[in-house]
Amino acid sequence: MSNQRQPIGVIGTGYVGLVTAAGFAEIGSEVWCVDIDAEKIARLQRGEVPIYEPGLEELLARNSERLHFSTDLGDALEHARLLFVAVGTPPTHSGDADLSAVHAVMGAIPDSQDHALVMKSTVPCGTGASLRRAFSEQGKSGLGYVSCPEFLKEGSAVHDFLHPDRVVVGDEGGWAGDAVVELYAPLGAPLVRTDIASAEMVKLASNAFLATKISFINEIANVCEETGADVVEVARGMGLDDRIGPKFLHAGIGFGGSCFPKDVDALKQLAGNSGYHFQLLTAVIEVNELQKRRVVGKLNRHLGGLAGKRVALLGLAFKPNTDDMREASSLVLSARLMADGAAVCAYDPIAEDQARKLVNGITFADSALGAVRGADAVVLVTEWPEFLELGWEQVAEAMSGDLVVDGRNALDPERVRAAGLQYEGIGRR
Ligand code: UDX
Repeated sequence: MSNQRQPIGVIGTGYVGLVTAAGFAEIGSEVWCVDIDAEKIARLQRGEVPIYEPGLEELLARNSERLHFSTDLGDALEHARLLFVAVGTPPTHSGDADLSAVHAVMGAIPDSQDHALVMKSTVPCGTGASLRRAFSEQGKSGLGYVSCPEFLKEGSAVHDFLHPDRVVVGDEGGWAGDAVVELYAPLGAPLVRTDIASAEMVKLASNAFLATKISFINEIANVCEETGADVVEVARGMGLDDRIGPKFLHAGIGFGGSCFPKDVDALKQLAGNSGYHFQLLTAVIEVNELQKRRVVGKLNRHLGGLAGKRVALLGLAFKPNTDDMREASSLVLSARLMADGAAVCAYDPIAEDQARKLVNGITFADSALGAVRGADAVVLVTEWPEFLELGWEQVAEAMSGDLVVDGRNALDPERVRAAGLQYEGIGRR
């Protein structure tokens, strides 16, 4: 198979780019990866993986002969017709997506009938159309363009690449769309072949819907707290309805990460720019911001104020199995706790280095037990597996207080209480 597969180029070697590159190499393509960061490319050439993503290192190592890393776009242009674009599209101050990295890639590619850009980065709906207009203004009408949004989740990105729920390919005809479909064919996923604008919207709408589900169940959890219901039971009962489904009904201290906050905001702004006020998404974002702060209220209530209190945070990453701290709820939570006069000590098995770059004023422990030593209260922020296995008797002995706030509803309340501790979840009885 390997000899017949299309070679591809991947521009940008972040989470999406590296997983895409490794995944296509795994199913037989030669892959030319390009990044402007020379140090990152040097590390990748040495076989080092600059990000933490389970299974990625092994996949890159296993396919190292098919993977080529360079800072020179010319290498990718020489060997591949399809150039997957996986550069960052961070939000600007206005909430729009910053497309400067995408424009830089476009500017560097010469006109060619033989090449096409395949957009993996999440971009606002309408970007493909405006990029194609820009191509023709720059005399590059020969270049093809395909929208092929990425749906992978950090922490399970390798699995998600190899077992996608669907592959979405948006194009306006021509060889490139067919070539992308052929590339993904061995994965056997349902295919949505559509126009460029619709493909772009599938990505934004999917993320916005999932974020809406989370904010919805978080509001239900808040109402449960007022009414004596238990949101875990409620979510179980709701999730058994086929039309609703059990996923993304886990109440907690809000969503974070590199995608949901950015994409929900981008879709809201996109609608606003064309004169439509997307009221639902405004609420989804606001609920999420308030949810990050709710734990502070719980601590205040139980501890009778936060000044001079010691609070231990178990986990800092925006979710388990990643070192990603982007938009992590822990950032807001730790800042609020310190602003109210609490001393914060945190432990995260993987994300400490990333966290140190973003958070000032908290101390870092080397273990969960180290973090809880002398604490008045413990907050489970990220449901890393090792926290679910904690010996709560030891925790109780090490703490000076007895409050455990389970910000992810991931602990067994009975086990925590059996150790003589007070348990408080989110929306739990
Ligand atoms: C998400 C999308 O799932 C993925 O398809 C897209 O390509 C990128 O954005 P990711 O950011 O990796 O992926 O994280 P995800 O696993 O979806 O979780 C996002 C956030 O929601 C996390 O902070 C998580 O803790 C939170 N979450 C998720 C909940 O609070 N409750 C839930 O029920 C599910």
